[in-house]
Amino acid sequence: MTDRASRKSNGQPGRVRTVLITGATDGIGLLLARAYAGRGHNVLATGRRVLADDQDLFDAPNIVYICADQSDPVHACSAIISAMQNMGWQHLDLAILNGATAWVGLPEQEPANGMKQLLDVNFRFQIHLAHALAPFLFEAAGRLVMIGSTATKKAQGRFATYTATKAGLDGLCRSLREEWLGRADVQIIHPGPTRTNMHAKAGLNIGLAKWFFMSPLRVASAIQYAIRRRDKRRVITRYFAFKARFSSAREGIL
Ligand SMILES: NC(=O)c1ccc[n+]([C@@H]2O[C@H](COP(=O)([O-])OP(=O)(O)OC[C@H]3O[C@@H](n4cnc5c(N)ncnc54)[C@H](OP(=O)(O)O)[C@@H]3O)[C@@H](O)[C@H]2O)c1
Repeated sequence: MTDRASRKSNGQPGRVRTVLITGATDGIGLLLARAYAGRGHNVLATGRRVLADDQDLFDAPNIVYICADQSDPVHACSAIISAMQNMGWQHLDLAILNGATAWVGLPEQEPANGMKQLLDVNFRFQIHLAHALAPFLFEAAGRLVMIGSTATKKAQGRFATYTATKAGLDGLCRSLREEWLGRADVQIIHPGPTRTNMHAKAGLNIGLAKWFFMSPLRVASAIQYAIRRRDKRRVITRYFAFKARFSSAREGIL
């Protein structure tokens, strides 16, 4: 990051930031939205659910929720950009592209329409949104964070297309980091297995293995720590999550 960029995005600890978090209705994304709002930042949270009263879920006046179903990437992106404009946001300090889904099964049995949906939700949407957010991020010398998975590192049976989408994000981030050098920062963070509802939603019962998975709260804290450290590419291991617990809080800094 250039001097100008680091001055704009990190030099004013007390400033209220604008933060976008996708997939914020459950698991890690929900915890991230609550954490950034809890530190006084203005959060735009997105998800696929139509919520009658989003305050039932978020209980924070500085979180605005909009429904943006990533399975229609173009429509979801324009809904997000419109919401940012309606909120008067001309710049974006931090975007965490966290929303994703999984399909679990034998690769040769994966239905074509399900495969398309997985690619749309986990990959095409992220590319479209990165492009659409660029001017807002450049204005703030802000930061784009994508959430990948350690599945890209350690092959995991029955998650082939999911793994491919996350590996694609890794390559995307590497390229964007070069393209946007001096204008906005780009990070990719790969969490390890985490005890959220993601597996159950994909029809997988993880059974007793869940006790070996990390707690979503620990993973969400470790993600924030990796963002504060400005790690270009970070794998969230148990050790890293443990270290994050003892890092200084540094109030107000993203
Ligand atoms: N859990 C793990 O073991 C693990 C490991 C490595 C990486 N990750 C990654 O961590 C991130 C968060 O996952 P998680 O474990 O917190 O899962 P989660 O609890 O299922 O949360 C995923 C979020 O994405 C949303 N979402 C799913 N499909 C969507 C769509 N079509 N449009 C918009 N939003 C959609 C979900 O909405 P609903 O609330 O409606 O379901 C939810 O808010 C994902 O990128 C995941 O790939 C997870």
